[in-house]
Amino acid sequence: MMLSESEMNIKLAETKRYLLAQGSLEETPALGIILGSGLGRLADLVENPKVIPYREIPNFPVSTVAGHAGQLVFGWVEGKYVMVMQGRFHFYEGYDMAEVTYPVRVMQALGLKGLIVTNAAGGVNFDFKAGDLALITDHLNMLGVNPLRGANLSDFGARFPDMSEAYDVEWRKRAWQTAQEMGLPLQKGVYAAFSGPSYETPAEICYARMMGADMVGMSTVPEVIVANHGGMRVLGISCITNMAAGVLPRKLSHAEVMETAQRIETEFVRFVANVVRVL
Ligand code: HPA
Repeated sequence: MMLSESEMNIKLAETKRYLLAQGSLEETPALGIILGSGLGRLADLVENPKVIPYREIPNFPVSTVAGHAGQLVFGWVEGKYVMVMQGRFHFYEGYDMAEVTYPVRVMQALGLKGLIVTNAAGGVNFDFKAGDLALITDHLNMLGVNPLRGANLSDFGARFPDMSEAYDVEWRKRAWQTAQEMGLPLQKGVYAAFSGPSYETPAEICYARMMGADMVGMSTVPEVIVANHGGMRVLGISCITNMAAGVLPRKLSHAEVMETAQRIETEFVRFVANVVRVL
């Protein structure tokens, strides 16, 4: 459903009013953090957490996928007040783009200026391996739709927003340095979003590689477009949970994705926490 600008603003005001009335916010969060599939445990680090299930939040879509808790967690990580999305909304679940990106608009309505997006991704770059963490330097929108299509939300940003530094350069530097100081191997590259829910074919992965992709996934890009539209700084981190279709002579499975995510979750959580400190 495509909403007019005023309809959208009314919805957002309702959501914001609810969150503020809950006493959920101790202050305006410095950062939003979106946790990808199998990476929800970062939320356990949050101190003095205030947890709000999505289903209780007016106008929020409801998460449907196993492995996604579906709740907001407000609280403190490394001395920064954050708003964590434990579970996100995927296009493949049937949500429209406005629903997929609604939480990012809520962040903007609440005054958040920065966003860390995380995801599980398939490795397209032959130098990657399952278990790697990778900084997202840029993305390819292969979803065939753009979340900004329709009425421009002019309170948030321009009709034709610039995307030439969608993933903040300074934040990437700080994240890179953090990894170095931790002695943590870190890859970097371009994330291509396919809509899913079927995994890509080997031919699609060849195509993505030729287009410059280093990893593929089914999320992140819509949220990052909307975050940029609303003037947020963005940092993106992928967990390479598997090599993409056709790279290795084996089939892909959600079980493998979740297994690898769990295997690297501790490292991932440590990294994100240290990154939160320096952003
Ligand atoms: N393709 C798309 N999405 C994914 C993958 C993949 O190989 N791995 C984890 N999420």
